[in-house]
Amino acid sequence: MKDAPPITVIADETAYAEAVQLALDSSAAYYADGTSTLDDDSYDRLVRGIEAYERDHPEQVLPQSPTGKVAGGAVVGDVPHLTPMLSLDNVFGAEQLADWAASVERRIGRPVTAWAVEPKLDGLAISARYRRGRLVQLVTRGDGVAGEDVSHAIGTILGLPGRLTDPVTIELRGEVMMTTAQFEEACAKRQAHDGTTFANPRSAAAGSLRTRERPYVCEQTFFGYGALPYPDDTSELAAGLREWPHSEVMAWVAGQGVQTTAVTPVAGTVVATIAEAQVRVEQIAAARPDLEFGIDGIVVKCDLAADQAAAGFSSRAPRWAVAYKLPATEKITKLVGVEWNTGRTGVIAPRAVLEPVELDGSIVTYATLHNVADIGRRGLMLGDSVTVYKAGDVIPRVEAPVVHLRTGDERPIPIPEVCPSCGDAIDTSQERWRCVRGRGCRAIASISYAAGRDQLDIEGLADNRIKQMLDTGLIADFADLFYLTREQLLGLERMGAVSTDNLLAAFERAKAQPLSRVFCALGVRGTGRSMSRRIARHFGTMAAIRAADAAAIQEVEGIGPEKAPVVVAELAELAPLIDKLVAAGVNMTEPGVPEGGLAVAAAAGADVEAGELELPLAGMSVVVTGAMSGELEALSRNEMNELIERAGGKASSGVSAKTSLLVAGEKAGSKRAKAESLGVRIVSPEEFADLVRPVL
Ligand code: IVH
Repeated sequence: MKDAPPITVIADETAYAEAVQLALDSSAAYYADGTSTLDDDSYDRLVRGIEAYERDHPEQVLPQSPTGKVAGGAVVGDVPHLTPMLSLDNVFGAEQLADWAASVERRIGRPVTAWAVEPKLDGLAISARYRRGRLVQLVTRGDGVAGEDVSHAIGTILGLPGRLTDPVTIELRGEVMMTTAQFEEACAKRQAHDGTTFANPRSAAAGSLRTRERPYVCEQTFFGYGALPYPDDTSELAAGLREWPHSEVMAWVAGQGVQTTAVTPVAGTVVATIAEAQVRVEQIAAARPDLEFGIDGIVVKCDLAADQAAAGFSSRAPRWAVAYKLPATEKITKLVGVEWNTGRTGVIAPRAVLEPVELDGSIVTYATLHNVADIGRRGLMLGDSVTVYKAGDVIPRVEAPVVHLRTGDERPIPIPEVCPSCGDAIDTSQERWRCVRGRGCRAIASISYAAGRDQLDIEGLADNRIKQMLDTGLIADFADLFYLTREQLLGLERMGAVSTDNLLAAFERAKAQPLSRVFCALGVRGTGRSMSRRIARHFGTMAAIRAADAAAIQEVEGIGPEKAPVVVAELAELAPLIDKLVAAGVNMTEPGVPEGGLAVAAAAGADVEAGELELPLAGMSVVVTGAMSGELEALSRNEMNELIERAGGKASSGVSAKTSLLVAGEKAGSKRAKAESLGVRIVSPEEFADLVRPVL
């Protein structure tokens, strides 16, 4: 985990006053309708800069300074809270978490009994007041002391029922947010209404919650994280709720029909030590890119009411809880250009050129824009400030323009009229535009891909040679390679007998490649190397793959309802090419897979994946890092992954608590450190070779 991000340096009193004003304006907008001009990272940096300046110049501190105030001093709302709605202090990294825990234990004078660890939901805090089981009022956090009544939103928030299971009087606290799907839907509705979209799920949620009269309704989601009896409630239940551990309170909340994170892959858990809390923090962080909703950190809390009471509160935040911040996955930057490229399959895709911005550990300069329709849906313009999203291994994408930052200088994005690669016409009948020449448009690239090391591995077939073969009409696609005669090759310019024979031998070897590589060579849209291996293992033969309909394809892990029909359509388009490959005698089966594929074997009751075949890595998730050595020295990463899967394991790129084994060669860096901290077994390439000997 990374350390605290840098701060904004403030040079003098004038700069300090400006910084305070900027922070105030920004947090006022953020808490009002989520339209802050600063992204979270920049805001945090600014406030830390203000704090540092105030430490050095205590005599200059302005009364309106946002430091030490809930909601950065932004005052909104007039409904007093029954119990103040506080903020959380932040820590960055394992060391700071451990230091914080130690400070809590010093304060209470004993070890903390148990820690609750749960995601920090990135939405808006809400207080939901129930009377005799009925939801009667919704109040925003506001300045923490008083908030705004947003009861008009009752009935539009999933997970926040109008009626609880029991007729109880209670205040629930939690976060209102939009899932990815709800955000897309909200953007579509707003687009249809006024031609604009929301900048991100958080501002969409804020806007939808606070806008009373909107002609369209946007559904949102609630996750509860606390329950507070009314201060004057002397009932037995109230007494119980005040005494129970936080984890039991949350189980009770869920029992009332209210959604909690228990239904998500990042459910709150209770652990005994802060080291275990750190492990859970890393698990939640690792799960973040795959979540349907945004989280911006992990909250670690004392679970027991007695520990909480002993730790107490500061004016701003409880001392018994802390937010472990995760790096921002979203930033605002400028869209400076759009490039159009025709891919190997003939698809014409736009790519955003951005003012470079640091995001989740890397500098982002390009981001995907999907397709023309998508640009229209998002209403993007050149020169727009845009929100850019990236998390983990996810390809960065432009989310939306920040409409309120427009200056009037924005221009429409030019849309190509002809294929940017060959200048031929564009087939615009589908949402994804394609060159009318299809795969033929980028024939060199697609044949070169098929011949590549991780596909058919045809040595000696350079791009200029492919071009020569295409230009002379010897081939039109890579299947034609297998029909070339010695005479035809010798007839090519600069082609000698030795090269010819080498090439012919390489073609012969290529014919024996496993199905996974032959399938990968086809370049089916949406399927790369590891997906091709999964498909090959699932079906066993090309005939079975071709016979599969979308429903059958969707049974392959990682293929969803969107991708499955694309694969089916692609295979139909590729049918003549596949027929030629079959006729040329190219291997169409996956070695080591039982007849009919794993799908059929599993249906017949054999526990194939789990180890009936006694595979050395059965059920294991394996990550490779660093340089391989010994017998494995020459293997590419893809070949290592093939080996792992042949041995029954699952190859994965990132270390998490789910990792069973890390193969660490020379120069293994952060993955090794992470595996060590998580207690993941680590082996050298040599030890690994011994482990997988039966399939090597
Ligand atoms: S507990 C006394 N738990 O984070 C405050 N807060 O930065 C205790 N938040 O205002 C809050 N997820 O809106 C808690 N699992 C979680 C949370 C969570 C998100 C928000 C909450 C709070 C803010 C503080």
